[in-house]
Amino acid sequence: MKTILVTGGAGFIGSHTCVELLNHNYNIVVMDNFVNSSMGAVEAIRTITKKDFPFYECDMLDEAAFEKIFAENKIDAVIHFAGLKAVGESVHKPLEYYHNNLTGTLNLLKLMRKYGVHQIVFSSSATVYGSKNPVPFCEDMPIGGTTNPYGTTKVMIEQILQDTCVADKDLRVALLRYFNPIGAHPSGLIGENPNGIPNNLMPYVARVAAGILPCLSVYGDDYNTPDGTGVRDYIHVCDLASGHISALEKLDTVNGCVIYNLGTGCGSSVLDVVHAFEKASGKKVNYKIVARRDGDIATCYADVSKAKKELHWEAKYNLDDMCRDSWNFIQHTKQN
Ligand code: WQD
Repeated sequence: MKTILVTGGAGFIGSHTCVELLNHNYNIVVMDNFVNSSMGAVEAIRTITKKDFPFYECDMLDEAAFEKIFAENKIDAVIHFAGLKAVGESVHKPLEYYHNNLTGTLNLLKLMRKYGVHQIVFSSSATVYGSKNPVPFCEDMPIGGTTNPYGTTKVMIEQILQDTCVADKDLRVALLRYFNPIGAHPSGLIGENPNGIPNNLMPYVARVAAGILPCLSVYGDDYNTPDGTGVRDYIHVCDLASGHISALEKLDTVNGCVIYNLGTGCGSSVLDVVHAFEKASGKKVNYKIVARRDGDIATCYADVSKAKKELHWEAKYNLDDMCRDSWNFIQHTKQN
């Protein structure tokens, strides 16, 4: 069975994908530098699947340590999650974001070439569509015009991968553009647990419901949306994980680079999320309306027809499922 290197495999999406890979009888090798994760997630993957695998605490920028992973394991394909991903932080730390995300990816691609690894699935983002495209976003739309360095690194890495496919006819690439991943594994052992104050909506809402934070700030209610608050395409992280398996299998039958949106195709507003979470948790979520957040767009949701047609993949879970599993996860986290 194939061995898959998962970079950033202790992270929110990476850990859920590792569970899915093991459940599909892939062998995995996991690396992570723990900048936004912990060894607890690695142990949780082992607990959930009752399977073991090599783990390396390693930074993509440490070329010698990174090469050791390829020298010690016969890697067949890579799923590349590792990267800095806080939109707001990237505006204040552009050099760190460009260096980490771009140089780290270049280090990975050089090692793949040296060790004869010809397949990669890349964790891209809907943010590459920028603010000029009409919704629903389609894979053949022009990308760019992003409002932050984080999003721009995703655009640049997509370009690097596409250019490398032109030069190396053996390389097969799947670019997966995630919309808004939320939720958690039903076991409650892995989920979204950012260090410090969450940037993203769902972990913040969950912590208000759990009494950890006092009040949610809703960034604007004057957008041209049904209730005035921002609309996003929230997708269950377990649906996202299964989409990676479908994309990995697709790479056995394609040449060059393929691109897929991973979303539900449905938009939900901030207040939709608040109300769904109150229903799922039975708790009140206090909120106040504040000014818009710089860089936010009003509405973002996916056209998901291509992944459905070519990957035979579509999201199974709805917003109530996502809120239920996020609530279950934060209750587990509070207990431990
Ligand atoms: C969602 C909605 C906010 C927090 C970003 C990246 C994307 C991916 C996910 C990394 C918006 C509103 C939020 C809060 C709020 N990042 N909001 N109060 O900005 O759509 O996407 O994170 O993988 O690439 O672009 O996600 O969860 O921050 O915001 O009102 O405290 O919730 O204005 O409308 P976003 P988000």
